[in-house]
Amino acid sequence: MQGDISRKIIIALDFPSVEEALDVVQVLKDFKPFLKIGMQLFYLSGPSLVYQLKEQGFPIFLDLKLHDIPNTVKGAAQSLARLGVDLLTVHCAGGRNMMEAALEGIEQGLTGGAVAPQVIGVTQLTSTSQKVMNEELKIAGSMEACILHYARLAEESGLHGVVCSPLEVELIKKQIGQDFLVVTPGIRPRSAKHDDQVRVTTPREAIRLGADYLVIGRAITKAANPLQAYQDILEEVKGAIG
Ligand code: C5P
Repeated sequence: MQGDISRKIIIALDFPSVEEALDVVQVLKDFKPFLKIGMQLFYLSGPSLVYQLKEQGFPIFLDLKLHDIPNTVKGAAQSLARLGVDLLTVHCAGGRNMMEAALEGIEQGLTGGAVAPQVIGVTQLTSTSQKVMNEELKIAGSMEACILHYARLAEESGLHGVVCSPLEVELIKKQIGQDFLVVTPGIRPRSAKHDDQVRVTTPREAIRLGADYLVIGRAITKAANPLQAYQDILEEVKGAIG
């Protein structure tokens, strides 16, 4: 998966209807990109869309950002393990017991030779600024220190990696290890709007910093020509690697 550059880009399917999501998937189908199904779409479609897209050969990142008491997260992970998704998120802020419970739930929920998803921890949302973290969430210290702490906790809990902004990738890889997966949203090609994302970089920069996967939503899905936008980003990423 790591060797295929097109698999480094995960398309965030944040749409209000299954039809709209499938329209974009149809346009990109020849590339078989990694697709991210988040809360908006999953709460609408349920598992059926996941099964449908998996059957068509798309890798799936199910981004439900689980965050609840350990027993509940364990149960949720047990149910989700059956879907055969490739990546799944939990919030690091749920703590070590919760992250360990998610992994236990997956183990117990796997059926009929299904492969376990890689579970990654959400550190701080890329829409959260340092000011919001300190003043609203009352988490003292720097954003970087908080993210590194969460990443360490995720690693100690047995998770496969974390989600963070591209700006923290280098630090995490250096401190925790090159094999610890780092998935980065907050990606904007130079020409695109930032929307509600605060801590952003370009695709090229995120790859240069060592990100394993780039999550890209609106810069592709809301582009006038999504296929062109996707291909332009692929070229940019290839340029950064090659
Ligand atoms: O449209 P955009 O490229 O901003 O979409 C980014 C996607 O990544 C969204 O689906 C959002 O939920 C997700 N995400 C994020 N920040 C995180 C974790 C996930 O923006 N820390």
